[in-house]
Amino acid sequence: MSSLSQAVQNSDVRQLGINPNHWYVVALSSEVTNKPMGVTIWQQAIALYRDSTGKIHALEDRCPHRQVKLSHGQVMGNELECAYHGWRFNSGGECAVVPHLAENQKLPNCKIRRYPVKEQDGFIWLFPGNVEPSVEPLGLPEWEHLNYIATVSVINCNAHYSYLIENLMDMYHGHLHQDLQAWAEASLQDIDEDNNRVDAHYVAQSYYKIDKIWSISQLFIPALRRLHLEPLDVSYIYPHWVSTLGKDFKIYCLLCPVNETQTKAYLIHFTSLNAFWRLHKLPVWFRRFVKNSLFGAAQKLLDGLVVQDVQMIEEEQQAYLQNPQRRNYELNRALVSVQRLMKSQVDLG
Ligand code: FES
Ligand SMILES: [Fe+2]
Repeated sequence: MSSLSQAVQNSDVRQLGINPNHWYVVALSSEVTNKPMGVTIWQQAIALYRDSTGKIHALEDRCPHRQVKLSHGQVMGNELECAYHGWRFNSGGECAVVPHLAENQKLPNCKIRRYPVKEQDGFIWLFPGNVEPSVEPLGLPEWEHLNYIATVSVINCNAHYSYLIENLMDMYHGHLHQDLQAWAEASLQDIDEDNNRVDAHYVAQSYYKIDKIWSISQLFIPALRRLHLEPLDVSYIYPHWVSTLGKDFKIYCLLCPVNETQTKAYLIHFTSLNAFWRLHKLPVWFRRFVKNSLFGAAQKLLDGLVVQDVQMIEEEQQAYLQNPQRRNYELNRALVSVQRLMKSQVDLG
């Protein structure tokens, strides 16, 4: 490739790689059992499994014997056993058992790659970089906190991750969601940015005000909603996204870019119960019961938003693949900052 076309390609945000030296989210904690699970992060197939003590491990999803998928095998104690001939690998990726070894044969020296992995706040965080991690996972303190009700929606879209992040950072697309009444009339006030994050500060009209215990029913009963002005902050904290709307809502989008045209992500919506001081005086078991019973309270809203966003994002990707030379008319300066951050992170990685 000539250096000119290389430069053009590097400047095209739709063909960017990722900075692998961050923690990405590859699964919900509840998805990983003692049956191995195959996941993919940026073209790398990985087998996740929970060992007999409940600890999570992540190995390259490839049996070095004949290159089949280890995730189709089974967990034996703390080892992962290949389905084909039963070779076993320990959590360090070393071959630990080969059935039918002849007496004069030694275990083959065929180590596979292991990935640093952590289970934290309801999710499995994986570090795909080639160096030892020097950063911590983003984390979601609200996941366990008794004052927050969680709803999770999974995003699977056939598009480069940049389209998803731009969608999430551009609050002017409330237009698309008019019928779902998530927010309205956003207006960008200010942007803060550094090498790791972009914080875009908007104000917007919110439909919800969670100040009485029954206000939660606004999530399902539109007639109870009242438009009022609230700060709407959206942050791209590479590689993930976090947003707060007023004091009542916090939303995370945890990314798992699969490849150049496929992105998986977990959208987690938290409704705050902070305003109900009476509730906070009740016994912990009861508060946990309230939290668990209301899990998924915003499911219809969240799933509805995802369907609408994914359709737009995938259309953008298709249009790009058909006419990559076409330029967009970008008027939201937050997106300029977002693209700058994506590019600079890839250069770092
Ligand atoms: S291919 Fe895995 S044990 Fe033979
Ligand atoms: Fe949206």
